[in-house]
Amino acid sequence: MATIAIYSLKGGVGKTTLSVNLAWCAATRSARRTLLWDLDPQAASSWVLAHGTPSNDAQAIFSRDVPLATRAIATAWPRLDLIPADGSLRGLDRLFQDLDKKKRLAKLLGGLKGYDRVLLDCPPGLTDTADQVMRAADVIVVPVIPSPLSERAFAAVKAHLGDRTALMPVHVMVDRRRSLHAAALSRNPDWPVIPMASVIEEMTVRREPVGAFAPRSAAAVAFDGLWRAVERQLAA
Ligand SMILES: Nc1ncnc2c1ncn2[C@@H]1O[C@H](COP(=O)(O)OP(=O)(O)OP(=O)(O)O)[C@@H](O)[C@H]1O
Ligand SMILES: [Mg+2]
Repeated sequence: MATIAIYSLKGGVGKTTLSVNLAWCAATRSARRTLLWDLDPQAASSWVLAHGTPSNDAQAIFSRDVPLATRAIATAWPRLDLIPADGSLRGLDRLFQDLDKKKRLAKLLGGLKGYDRVLLDCPPGLTDTADQVMRAADVIVVPVIPSPLSERAFAAVKAHLGDRTALMPVHVMVDRRRSLHAAALSRNPDWPVIPMASVIEEMTVRREPVGAFAPRSAAAVAFDGLWRAVERQLAA
């Protein structure tokens, strides 16, 4: 089993978008038994993929040792399960501090059976939750909007991590007509690119991964390519 975290210091940069679409690619394109674990109290991945009644005690996995596997629910797509988030995860940082076990999340994942790929949709920030995620992940995918400030945030994450874990920066929300974007892309020409696209915004209205409703769109093709790059990184 491999764990892929989708993480950024910054909010609103496309973590959830990448999480949902990469998880769908893992399950559908690579036929992997895939689990998407939503760790963000905003529960955006859960909103897209789970259409039943939301839970209200997601934190019980950490606070009451509720077994992880019992919290996984099936989605509408074969091989793709979800551990939903809810507002109870607002206290997760405090809980991790109080527990004082730096590898709690990694241990929980180590005991999980039946999945080939686990993706973690993370809340933003260099928090205790982020540290737990970084210790658990084999690869950390970091969405970066092409701008100097986002590159700075990425550099901060890289400095924080050192060589501990493989980092995969991805340029997201890219509009090549903008000179700022074109300049950023030329600074890092080998980073994968996800375009700015209205089908991606539509995902939260249709509550489906892009590949499920617009498989031939440039965005879906870009997610497929990014997923293949993640698989290559895992095999490296
Ligand atoms: N490539 C893209 N093209 C167009 N819109 C995008 C793209 N990527 C993300 N968005 C939109 O930007 C908004 C933020 O994206 P998303 O929720 O994935 O970010 P996030 O990093 O998970 O945010 P948060 O930090 O709040 O969890 C959403 O409305 C999403 O639909
Ligand atoms: Mg999010």
